[in-house]
Amino acid sequence: MKTKIINYPDLVAARNREVHDTVFLDAKTNHFTEMELIAKDKNYYIHTYGCQANIRDEETMRGMLESVGYRKVDDPSIADVIIINTCAVRENAEDKVYGEIGNLKKYRKSNKKLVLGICGCMVEQPEILQILQDKFSEVNLYFGTHEIDQLLDLIYEVYTNDYRLISIKSKQGEVIEKLPASRNNEFKAYVNIIYGCNKFCTYCIVPYTRGKERSRKFSDIMDEVRELKKANYQEITFLGQNVNAYGKDLDEGFDFADVLEEAAKMGIPRIRFTTSHPWDFSSKMIEIIAKYDNIMKCIHLPVQSGSNEVLRLMGRRYTREHYLNLVKEMRRKIPGLSLSTDIIVGFPNETEEQFKETLSLVDEVKYESAFTFIYSPRRGTPAAKITDNVSYSDKSRRFKELVKHLEVNIEKDSNSYIGNTYKVLVDGVSKTDSSMLSGYTESNKLVHFKGDINLVGKIVKVKINESHTYSLLGELVNE
Ligand code: SAH
Ligand code: SF4
Ligand code: F3S
Repeated sequence: MKTKIINYPDLVAARNREVHDTVFLDAKTNHFTEMELIAKDKNYYIHTYGCQANIRDEETMRGMLESVGYRKVDDPSIADVIIINTCAVRENAEDKVYGEIGNLKKYRKSNKKLVLGICGCMVEQPEILQILQDKFSEVNLYFGTHEIDQLLDLIYEVYTNDYRLISIKSKQGEVIEKLPASRNNEFKAYVNIIYGCNKFCTYCIVPYTRGKERSRKFSDIMDEVRELKKANYQEITFLGQNVNAYGKDLDEGFDFADVLEEAAKMGIPRIRFTTSHPWDFSSKMIEIIAKYDNIMKCIHLPVQSGSNEVLRLMGRRYTREHYLNLVKEMRRKIPGLSLSTDIIVGFPNETEEQFKETLSLVDEVKYESAFTFIYSPRRGTPAAKITDNVSYSDKSRRFKELVKHLEVNIEKDSNSYIGNTYKVLVDGVSKTDSSMLSGYTESNKLVHFKGDINLVGKIVKVKINESHTYSLLGELVNE
């Protein structure tokens, strides 16, 4: 099979941040009618890896596929379109994708017209894209994070021609509106407010795979929130690699605090947001979070390390002292605040003392939850060029030690729920015990309890009787 290249990714171009004018466009499919004929009685299968940005992209792709008639299936063997939406943030995320494509490629034999597409952050890296091409001749479509809106036209081209198509442009990015969405959940929704990232932390691939920071227009965000409110959504989560940077690239005069406040006034019962970077978290944002009951008192504030030297080498743009002061201000102004974080252990040449500074920071902040990672070099990032003198076994020991430190406080926090009653948004039947329901408190604690399936999607009161490190056990309280 020949390969047609529309655009090939380029990490140097992906670094470019010179142009500040974002282009705003409405989505458009050229071959919509033809695709309705092609999709008739056909199925699609999508598997997504990675963060909420990818999950939200999947919802857009599903919306597009379903708009022409494709039906979603969970079994790839009966799919006519298979899409693997990949993540590149750490090596283990990429390894899983190689394994999955290896399993799926056999379906090309039984269905010559199969569209087997790989998209997401992995294919934005030229060297990885080359490995995929060399390994998997069965894949006939590669498209990037900036081509999601063109999905139907790309499928049309692959379907009606006998070549493999690569369309991955390393551009700074546009904002595309009026895209359909088939949401994963009928009462909880993600709402993008800002795409891309300009921070360029030295270990991170995301700014290369997702383009420059570009905010959606305030009115477009609010239109989406209004629609969700009308459809009776109970919870929305504002998304961005760095939500606090919202509005800086526009001259509309709105910032992230304004987004929160306007949405809070619309009366959606629960408003969350992720991720906030400690560098541009303003006092105004803290005050708005404190002011409205329907803005959840949960802040995900990635610290990455407790050592000033490591933070400097990571390019994080704040010090340990700045971070701790911010936490102090948040805890003072937002009663009942639940703080979570991301931490990387084993950054190149991290010393035992520097690691201990991370432990002491964790003990001081007392996080209610945390995501911990062992540093994974990402080709093309500055940190990947540093010669590292820390062995993997040291990194893995530090990782375990860090988790132990975090769990002391997480357990203490979970214990403090016992005997009290909390509002829980019921998610569904518990994954571990089908006789139980599960849901989340306002502070984002997972709760299991007995109840009727009709309660799914509702906010109920649950009294907590028992606590485990990562979940709580309770009983329904009748009003
Ligand atoms: N934009 C978000 C996070 C995006 S990636 C933020 O800045 O908070 C999610 C997390 O993955 C990061 O917070 C970091 O802890 C981790 N991460 C990113 N690159 C990594 C790498 N090369 N190795 C290990 N962990 C990494
Ligand atoms: Fe990556 Fe840093 Fe941007 Fe987060 S802020 S996505 S860690 S570069
Ligand atoms: Fe992964 Fe891309 Fe998200 S690298 S974490 S899917 S932005």
